[in-house]
Amino acid sequence: MDHSLTDDTTQNRHSGNQVTVQKYDRVTVAFHWLTAGLVLALFLIAQGWGFLDRADRAPLKLTHTSLGVVLAALILARIVWRLFFGNRLVAANTGLPSTVARLGHFLLYVLIVLQVGLGFLIGWSGRNAAINAFGFQIPSPLSAFTRDEHNFFEETHNLLAWSIIALVAVHASAALFHHYVLRDGLLWRMRFGRSLAGR
Ligand code: HEM
Ligand code: HEM
Repeated sequence: MDHSLTDDTTQNRHSGNQVTVQKYDRVTVAFHWLTAGLVLALFLIAQGWGFLDRADRAPLKLTHTSLGVVLAALILARIVWRLFFGNRLVAANTGLPSTVARLGHFLLYVLIVLQVGLGFLIGWSGRNAAINAFGFQIPSPLSAFTRDEHNFFEETHNLLAWSIIALVAVHASAALFHHYVLRDGLLWRMRFGRSLAGR
């Protein structure tokens, strides 16, 4: 179990001062960027099939549900890692900004978990009562749903998709603001690799 802090230093180009930067462990970094890539891919794929005729949408929908099942496993593993194994860093902000950042990160986890749950519910309440992932059917463990419930799951999934993307836009902007305006090296926290020297 590694709860140790991983420190490194980088140069603040604005002030010329050395800034101590802590880094997340490599597993946390891998989880972060894999989750980010999958969430964005799932969103873009779902937008993509909107441009196709209904008859041509099946491959994109199959890709969406297959990657969705991968995201489900990944987000659960990520949360377990975060709670029990990953290292913890001192907050990059203090006071209110720190609270807002923590709430924002927590909300991202909550929304993604809800979105995964809704994704399964859409499939399980649909015509086949199953999620198709990589050609395998994951049948519904729940009793039959009504058409209204199915529509509700779908509408909420769509609404959450846009909410997640909006929150991610704020999150990424805040990270870039820290890194390039405040010049505190925040992005290096989520960087692969052992050392910042010679970057
Ligand atoms: C779908 C996309 C993304 C999701 C879902 C996401 C999610 C998260 C979450 C949940 C955390 C908190 C980590 C924790 O404490 O457990 C985090 C941290 C972080 N993210 Fe993202 N992120 C995304 C995209 C990005 C992008 C595009 C950037 C860079 C521009 C970025 C930069 C960072 C940084 C630097 C941290 C560490 C912040 C800190 O230590 O205070 N993320 N991200
Ligand atoms: C953050 C991750 C995800 C995003 C951003 C996302 C986004 C979307 C969007 C925008 C739609 C279209 C909704 C509509 O037009 O009403 C959709 C549909 C759907 N999503 Fe997701 N989704 C995600 C995760 C998942 C997961 C994890 C699953 C399940 C494994 C899943 C299963 C589905 C299904 C079954 C549909 C309906 C497809 C159809 O019309 O037949 N999604 N998703």
